[in-house]
Amino acid sequence: MSRRILIAGNWKMNMRAESGASLAKGIVDAVGKSPAVEVVLCPPSVYLSGVADAVVGTPVELGAQNLYAAEDGAFTGEVNASMLTDVGCRFVILGHSERRQLMGETDACVAKKLHAALAGNLVPIVCVGETLEQREADDTESVIETQIRGSLEGLDEARAANIVIAYEPVWAIGTGKTASKEQAEAVHAFIRELLGKMFSTEVAEQIRIQYGGSVKPGNAEELLSQPNIDGALVGGASLKVDDFAGIINAAPSA
Ligand code: 13P
Repeated sequence: MSRRILIAGNWKMNMRAESGASLAKGIVDAVGKSPAVEVVLCPPSVYLSGVADAVVGTPVELGAQNLYAAEDGAFTGEVNASMLTDVGCRFVILGHSERRQLMGETDACVAKKLHAALAGNLVPIVCVGETLEQREADDTESVIETQIRGSLEGLDEARAANIVIAYEPVWAIGTGKTASKEQAEAVHAFIRELLGKMFSTEVAEQIRIQYGGSVKPGNAEELLSQPNIDGALVGGASLKVDDFAGIINAAPSA
């Protein structure tokens, strides 16, 4: 079963209207008309429309960095799934470790958002990952299992194939320290086996599992050529056309 490589740029809280539009145009040019991989840009929510204008009619897709799990109503400052699809999003990042750590998001909260995303026809990119302390205590697998079971709570097999998991070890995010290809592949294989137990082997084989954490043009090829690594969720290196294009071009074609 071949899973199409998915390269997503998480701009986090960076860029401005003009710089974001020009970054998006640069990526569109670099990607061309029929890329071998799927490419998604996830700008801050206030810039989604501007980036949507830059990528419309091209293979480059749009994603948001978060959503609020409710229908329209009195939720000051929040944005829901229907608003995200309205401005052209197909994807949404959920449960990023920065949101888990800084905004107190729990697995239960991520699960609510997951259901809201799927109900709104968005593809959720569910982030999981262990801290350095947890890795050193040999707790990586139990931490990941708890996060995945909790964040996917209530998800049925029929919908499970539509989600994306991003394994982002917290200690590798923005630190320049990447998990080695062996370390990353071991966790990805563990996640796929877990998804097989939770759903079915067939569904687990369809779910894309991205790696994230200091992915750069120089390490992308070895990471993306691992059998269970189906893409990358890129932070810092997604803010420069050359770096992000370098990662896209390093992906083995499907
Ligand atoms: P960096 O690529 O900057 O390490 O960030 C990874 C990340 O958090 C993507 O979501």
